[in-house]
Amino acid sequence: MATKSYGIDFGTYAVKIYKIHQGVRFHQKSVIATRDKGNVIAIGEEAYSMIGKEPEYIHIDRPIQNGVIANFDTMLSLMNCISMDMGRDGDKLKGATFLVAVPTEVTDVEKKTFYDIIDSSIIRPKKIRITEKPLADAIGCGIDIANSNGSLVVDIGADTTEISVISQGGIVLSRLCPYGGYRFDEAIIAAVRRKYNLLIGHRTAENIKISLVDFSSDGTDVMFAYGRDFVSGLPREREINSELVNRAVAEPLQAILDAVKSVLERIPPEISADVYQGGIMLTGGSACMKGIADFISAELGLRVNIPEDPATTVARGLGRVMEEEKYEHLAKPLRQTYYEND
Ligand SMILES: Nc1ncnc2c1ncn2[C@@H]1O[C@H](COP(=O)(O)OP(=O)(O)OP(=O)(O)O)[C@@H](O)[C@H]1O
Ligand SMILES: [Mg+2]
Repeated sequence: MATKSYGIDFGTYAVKIYKIHQGVRFHQKSVIATRDKGNVIAIGEEAYSMIGKEPEYIHIDRPIQNGVIANFDTMLSLMNCISMDMGRDGDKLKGATFLVAVPTEVTDVEKKTFYDIIDSSIIRPKKIRITEKPLADAIGCGIDIANSNGSLVVDIGADTTEISVISQGGIVLSRLCPYGGYRFDEAIIAAVRRKYNLLIGHRTAENIKISLVDFSSDGTDVMFAYGRDFVSGLPREREINSELVNRAVAEPLQAILDAVKSVLERIPPEISADVYQGGIMLTGGSACMKGIADFISAELGLRVNIPEDPATTVARGLGRVMEEEKYEHLAKPLRQTYYEND
C-alpha cells in the first residue's frame, strides 16, 4: 500500500490508528466534549476525565456505541480533531489512504458509515479500503490465517465482544455480543451499592476493575472507593474487597462465555479439533483483566492465549494487511464488501 497509509480501528472505548511501517500512532478514548453549538472543548482522555463532573452546558458524547457509529455528527467532529491532533505530531492524515476495520456482524449501512466518516471529514482521503475486523484481529495476534488451522478469537472490548472462528484465510463464523468491559463496570457499581450503600461513578468503577479485580487472588485484596452514601446522600469513603468485585464481574463474564460456548457448539468438528489443540486467542482491552485467562480456561476446559497489548491487535493486524503483499486481497473497496454480503 501507499507510503502514506493508515489503518483505523474505531473502538467503542478507544480509537486506534496504525501508520504503515511505523506502528500504533494514536490510541485515545472515543470521547468528545462539546459546548453550546457543538464547539469542541476536549477529546480522548481529557474529555473522559470530565465524565460525571461536567456542568450542564458541556455535552460529553461517546459517538461509537455497540461497535458501530451511533452519532454521525459528533463522530465527524471527533475524526476532524484526531486529524488535527495527529497533524501536530507530524502525521498528516490529509490525502492519505485508509484501511478501516469493520465488524462482520453489522448491516451494510453501518459498515458504510465507517467509510463515510473518513470520506466526509477534513482529511479528503485518497482512497478508503475496508477489512473485516476478525481477520485483522487474528493477523494482529500473529496467526498466519491463510496457512493455519482453525482458530477461535474472542475480542472483549468495552461495549461488545466479537467471537470469531477463522479457518483457511476466511471467517467461518462470527458473533457480535452486546457486552464487554462496560458491563463489568456496571456490575461493580451495582455490587458496591448493594453491599455498602455507596453510589460510585463509572470512572471509579473502571478504576476498581483495573486495580482490584483479580481472578487468581484469594479475594482479600482491598482498596478505598469514594462516592455518595445512598441513604444519607453525603460523600463517603468505603473499603472495597476483591472478593466482592471478582464475584460481581464474574456474572457478565459468564454471559460472554455462554455466547462463546454457543459458537463452539456450532463449528464443524474438524475445526473443533483445531481449537482444542490451539486454544482460544483472547484480545481486546478486557483481556488485561488480571486472572481472566485462568478463569476462562477453567470454565471452558481450553487453553487461553493472550497476545501482547491485546487492545491494539486489530490496529496492528490492519498494519500487516497494509504492509504485506500476501494480505493485500483483504483490503477491499466498499462496493466489493457489499457485493459479497448480498
Ligand atoms: N488492565 C485492565 N483491566 C481490566 N480491564 C481493562 C484494562 N485495560 C483496559 N480495560 C478495559 O478494556 C476495555 C476497552 O478495550 P478496547 O480498547 O479493546 O475496546 P474497544 O475496542 O474500544 O471496544 P469495542 O471493541 O467494544 O468497540 C474497557 O472496558 C477497559 O475498561
Ligand atoms: Mg475493539
